[in-house]
Amino acid sequence: MPLIPMRPLLDFAAAKNFGVCALNVNNMEQIQAIMEAARATSSPVIIQASRGARKYTNDAFLEHLMKAAVELYPEIPVVMHQDHGNSPETCISAIRRGFTSVMMDGSLEDDGKTPSSYEYNVAVTRYVVDIAHSVGVSVEGELGVLGSLERMSGDKEDGHGAEGKLTLKELLTDPDQAVDFVQRTGVDALAVAIGTSHGAYKFSKKPTGDVLVIERIIEIHKRIPNCHIVMHGSSSVPKNLIDIINQYGGKIPETYGVPVEEIQRGIQAGVRKINVDTDNRLAMTGAIRKVLTENPAEFDLREYMKAARAAMQKVCEERMRQFGQAGHAKEVPFVTLDQMAKDYIAGKFGEAAKPRSALKIGNPK
Ligand code: G3H
Ligand code: 13P
Ligand code: ZN
Repeated sequence: MPLIPMRPLLDFAAAKNFGVCALNVNNMEQIQAIMEAARATSSPVIIQASRGARKYTNDAFLEHLMKAAVELYPEIPVVMHQDHGNSPETCISAIRRGFTSVMMDGSLEDDGKTPSSYEYNVAVTRYVVDIAHSVGVSVEGELGVLGSLERMSGDKEDGHGAEGKLTLKELLTDPDQAVDFVQRTGVDALAVAIGTSHGAYKFSKKPTGDVLVIERIIEIHKRIPNCHIVMHGSSSVPKNLIDIINQYGGKIPETYGVPVEEIQRGIQAGVRKINVDTDNRLAMTGAIRKVLTENPAEFDLREYMKAARAAMQKVCEERMRQFGQAGHAKEVPFVTLDQMAKDYIAGKFGEAAKPRSALKIGNPK
C-alpha cells in the first residue's frame, strides 16, 4: 500500500478504540524492525523521523528506505511522519520529501529550546495546517511544554527540548486552551504535556498520578473529542532492557519510564498516537553490547546489527499488541493525499481544518 496520511489511520483507531505507536527511525535496520513487527502482528504503523534523523540520513537515504519499506510490505498501511518540526520550513521540506504527516511543534520557538508564546504557537501551527491540508497531509500540534513534574524542568536532549525550570502552567496542558487551540489551528492531532519527557530519565521512581497526570487526558479529550491526543515521551524504559546494557558493560543509573498500563489508560481516555523511541534505542544498544561482549573477536557488523534489529522488533511487536493496533492492518481504509485534500477543502473534517490557502497552493480543477 502506498503511504497514507495519519488522519484516516487515527480516525479508524478512534472508531475501534485502539492506540498506534509512532516509532522513530534513523537507519535501515530500525525501519526493517518496524516493518517485520508490523507484518508479524498485522499492524498499521506510524514511522517518524526527527530533524536529527533527517540530518543523519541526509533525507535522501531516509526517503528511499521508506520507499523500499512500502514496496516490500504492500499489506502494511504506513504513515511517514515528521517528528517535532520546529518551523514551517522543516514541515514543508518534509512534505516535499514525501512525508504524509507533519508535527509543527510550536510549543517551542524555532530554536527548538525556548518555550514560545501561545499566540506564536497558534500562528505558526495555523500556517502549517493551511499548507499541509491543502495537499492532504495531516498535522500534529503541541500545546504545553514537555518536561518533568518531578523536577519542574524541561527535557532538553540531543539539542531538542526546553531548557531550565518551567512552571506548572507550562508543564500541564490547559483543557480550555486546548479547545481554543484546536478551533484556531484545525490540527488533526494534539500532543499534550502531562509529565512525560523524552529520553530514559523520566521518573526517579514508578510514577504516581501527581507526576504522570493521565487524568488530564480525560479532561482534555472530553473538551476536544474530535482531535486525536498524542502522548510524547512514552517509552516505558523496561528494567530488563537496562539490565542487559549494564550486564554487558553499560552504566545506566536506575530510572523509570511510562508504565504500559498507564498508556493503556491513556488510550481508553482518547490517546491515539504514542511516541516511542528510547525503548528501541535501549533494546538495540543492549543487543549490540551483548554480542560484542560475548564474542570479543566479532567484527562483522551484520552479526551485531542483526541482533539489534531483532531486539527492536521484539519491543515493537510488544507495543503493537499492548496498544491494540495489532490485527488491524487489513481494515485501515486507504485514502490518498488527493482525496484528503478534497475532503479538507470540502469541510469534511470541520470548518477549522479547511485550508485557507488551498486555492492559492494547489488542487487545480
Ligand atoms: O523527539 C525525540 C525523539 O526521541 C527523537 O530524538 O532528536 O535525538 O532524534 P532525536
Ligand atoms: P521517548 O524518548 O520516551 O521514546 O519519546 C519519544 C518521543 O516522544 C519522540 O517524539
Ligand atoms: Zn516527542
